[in-house]
Amino acid sequence: MIKTALTEKLKIAYPIVAGTMMNITTPEFVAACSNAGGLGILASAIYKTAEDLRTAIKKTKQLTDKPYAVNVNLFPALMPTDQLTHIKIMLEEGVKIIETSGHAAPEEYVPIFKEAGVTWIHKCAGIRYAIKAAKLGADMIEVVGYENGGATGKLDIGTLVMTPTAVDAVKVPVLAGGGVSDGRGLAAILALGAQGVVIGTRLMATKECPIHDNIKQMLIEAKETDTVLIMRSLGGTHRVWDNKAARLVLDLESQKDSNPMDIYDVAAGSKAKKMYETGNLDIGVISCGQGVGLIHDVPTVKEYFDRIMAEAEAVINNLLDRKN
Ligand SMILES: Cc1cc2nc3c(=O)[nH]c(=O)nc-3n(C[C@H](O)[C@H](O)[C@H](O)COP(=O)(O)O)c2cc1C
Repeated sequence: MIKTALTEKLKIAYPIVAGTMMNITTPEFVAACSNAGGLGILASAIYKTAEDLRTAIKKTKQLTDKPYAVNVNLFPALMPTDQLTHIKIMLEEGVKIIETSGHAAPEEYVPIFKEAGVTWIHKCAGIRYAIKAAKLGADMIEVVGYENGGATGKLDIGTLVMTPTAVDAVKVPVLAGGGVSDGRGLAAILALGAQGVVIGTRLMATKECPIHDNIKQMLIEAKETDTVLIMRSLGGTHRVWDNKAARLVLDLESQKDSNPMDIYDVAAGSKAKKMYETGNLDIGVISCGQGVGLIHDVPTVKEYFDRIMAEAEAVINNLLDRKN
């Protein structure tokens, strides 16, 4: 049994955070991840009204009695969420763990988190953001490296360097991810000094993940080379699956006089949602990390978590025993 500051502080079985995934980390999937021993995180940005968010949190609580978190998305959005109202609803519903994600730490919300006594985890993709959040009082820092699916930030630092640098830079526990799909990756993250791993891409290919089977099949077939970085020209670099729509975004970005709205239109979250629902692989872009090359099957979340924990323990035990 691997115990870390993450499992001890949050009272979860495994040092595994199921990364926030817009339109995917719904109450059902969050509960599946928490019930399987990890930390599920509800994406509050899916819910445009306070009451929809309240309903989603209530549903999550009905589906799991294990710890779960709710994410506050700080990335710029075309239709920004009323974050203060969302946070108020989270606190009214007794949410105990809040993850914020974005570059800059949310200074204005910190007093609210502290007053309510929630555990505040800040996710970012760079050491300077990690240091700032820790100074502001984050209870844990989550860093993701360049391999990761979704926002990669501006600095292009791989997980192998990002993780120990963050561990050295802040005093609070560090959680890390980006490119982790199996127990070897989990063991590596722990060896680098992190107290837990954050996994996104690999969890899309699980039975409970609420996306069309065509996409799960695509994830099995895709190789580690099948991702591209888009939207760098707009300051919002994302690693996504390399498909027609991603190529169109890159093409638009290469044109001097292209309208950013045309790019946002191709990359809109609503199109990804349609892909998840219909299984049409061409209509939009899907966030996807390089760890996709290590996906070979579609287990349940529980089977997957149990498997990578056993693999990680075996890797750790075998390292000293290696014959070659
Ligand atoms: C499909 C998808 C959607 C994501 N959406 C979000 C999001 O809404 N908010 C967020 O903070 N991170 C988001 N992420 C990032 C994950 O939470 C996590 O940090 C990342 O996937 C870890 O790297 P990995 O994909 O290599 O495992 C998303 C990732 C994926 C693959």
